[in-house]
Amino acid sequence: MRKFDSITKYYALRAPEYEQIYYRDIPAKRKELAGEAERLKKLVAGKSVFDLACGTGYWTAVICQTAREVVASDISAEMISEARTKEYVCQPDFVRADLYELPFKGATFDILTLGFWFSHEPKQNYCEFFRMLKTLVRREGLIWMIDNNPPAEGPKYRSVGTDDYGNNYRQRFLDSGEEFAILKNYFTSRGLREMFSPEFAIESIIFNECYWSVVLKDKAAPGNPATYNLSMG
Ligand SMILES: C[S@@+](CC[C@H](N)C(=O)[O-])C[C@H]1O[C@@H](n2cnc3c(N)ncnc32)[C@H](O)[C@@H]1O
Repeated sequence: MRKFDSITKYYALRAPEYEQIYYRDIPAKRKELAGEAERLKKLVAGKSVFDLACGTGYWTAVICQTAREVVASDISAEMISEARTKEYVCQPDFVRADLYELPFKGATFDILTLGFWFSHEPKQNYCEFFRMLKTLVRREGLIWMIDNNPPAEGPKYRSVGTDDYGNNYRQRFLDSGEEFAILKNYFTSRGLREMFSPEFAIESIIFNECYWSVVLKDKAAPGNPATYNLSMG
């Protein structure tokens, strides 16, 4: 097996079958996802939103139910094609772009949303990545992320090693049986707090069995505490 497959290539190949992850019949998963969708709709109501690495548009469609305007981007033409087949309450603008080389300058969005990407972000890039995220929202803007814990994946996949930076690599299979090993990190609730709190005020953190989500705000934004007290939430 190849040890380190490209995330970008893997998702391009997986685009037609990707959304199956949302419909696997695990009741706890469905309940958590439904709860998160309700929270997200409230969070983005009336706002301008940038849905980064939007994939097939699963969360884009949720966001578009209440947001004022939505831009959604992904590096994969295959993913964007899938996303374009959905019907949206407010029509998003789709942009094909590498998240490391985005064509946006200045911080204009009220909210940045990032579904199931953070677990693929290499640990050694976090500092730069956080800085980049902050440039995409206005000064008091928010960043929402959702990602999964291992139970959401079921017993089928196993971890296949780590690299020198401590990134975990996890097995994946396409429906064809083709096997990949992609960078996929998992977090504890405490780990998330310790990781985000030096850079962000943590507006909310939800840590359930299958999924976690956070709402973050740049710590430098007015009104945010200088340090986050870990015992607070
Ligand atoms: C796990 S999927 C998440 C899709 C969607 N946000 C969701 O929550 O369903 C990761 C997405 O990241 C995209 N991607 C991979 N590398 C990327 C890059 N360098 N820049 C932007 N998007 C990338 C993939 O094409 C894929 O759509």
